[in-house]
Amino acid sequence: MRPTHYMDTKDLSKNEYDVLFGLADDIFSHPDRYIDRLRGKVLASLFFEPSTRTRMSFETAMLRLGGSVIHMDSPDNSSMKKGESLEDTLRIVESYADVCVMRHPVSFTQHKLVPYLKEMHLINAGDGNHSHPTQTLTDLMTIRHTKGRLDHLKIGLCGDLKNGRTVHSLFRHLKEIEGNHFTFISPPGLEMPEEYFDGVDKNSYVEIQSLEEGIEDLDILYMTRVQTERFASEEEGLGFRGSYALTKKILGKGKEDLSIMHPLPRVDEIETEIDEDPRAHYFLQAKLGMIVRMALILFLMEDENGKDS
Ligand code: NCD
Repeated sequence: MRPTHYMDTKDLSKNEYDVLFGLADDIFSHPDRYIDRLRGKVLASLFFEPSTRTRMSFETAMLRLGGSVIHMDSPDNSSMKKGESLEDTLRIVESYADVCVMRHPVSFTQHKLVPYLKEMHLINAGDGNHSHPTQTLTDLMTIRHTKGRLDHLKIGLCGDLKNGRTVHSLFRHLKEIEGNHFTFISPPGLEMPEEYFDGVDKNSYVEIQSLEEGIEDLDILYMTRVQTERFASEEEGLGFRGSYALTKKILGKGKEDLSIMHPLPRVDEIETEIDEDPRAHYFLQAKLGMIVRMALILFLMEDENGKDS
């Protein structure tokens, strides 16, 4: 039985990831085969935090599968403004849609809503600073494309590692895969939180502050922005802005086959001149995100025989 919802990367087994990425590869090569697969089905997008890529890539993914999309503009324009609970809102959405993609500023909100659902599939599109599992799918898809494997990689995670949910999800997944080594590059105060190191071998990572020093032997450099909206005050967050900027000079120290990634939006973490460098993979990453989200929607909505589940 396939899982009904996708809340965290651990929701799928290794075999299920193999099936999911196999499906994504096939969609990438033969998108025409999928244009009618979900005709008559409806995806609802519920975003309680700003989003460009995640929301649009899910909506486009559903349209490219032949399905339709509904969305709630903003909580301010909905019945929640009149005092409706999130549980009730979701139950109502369930009577309209087959699958719902939801982002919320409070960690674990989507997880708590699962018990209220009877039929609709729920996908976590980011919960607070906790996790962003479909960004991880996007990242894994990109690493498979550019490196051909997910194991034995030297991975640098740089920026706001305390508040960035993308790096939390990505680290939680990649640390379970054999031979991966991590270089955490962050300013003091924005380090990867202790709780993510449970069961992690001390030899499998280093924590440093200098990007210039850390970049040298990396296979992947994953840049992130300072999550200013998650600090107690905006000033506090802005104080960290500009901590890291990948410049051409620093990139000069990187390997020839380094893969530069970023979940986007970029603020000032990567000089725009680098966009033309063949090692810049962040726009490819966004494109592959749509493909792997098509695969995820199909994977959850169909069983092994391609029938509705
Ligand atoms: C990320 C997020 O929302 O956490 N954005 C995205 O979905 N690509 C990263 C970020 O906002 O910095």
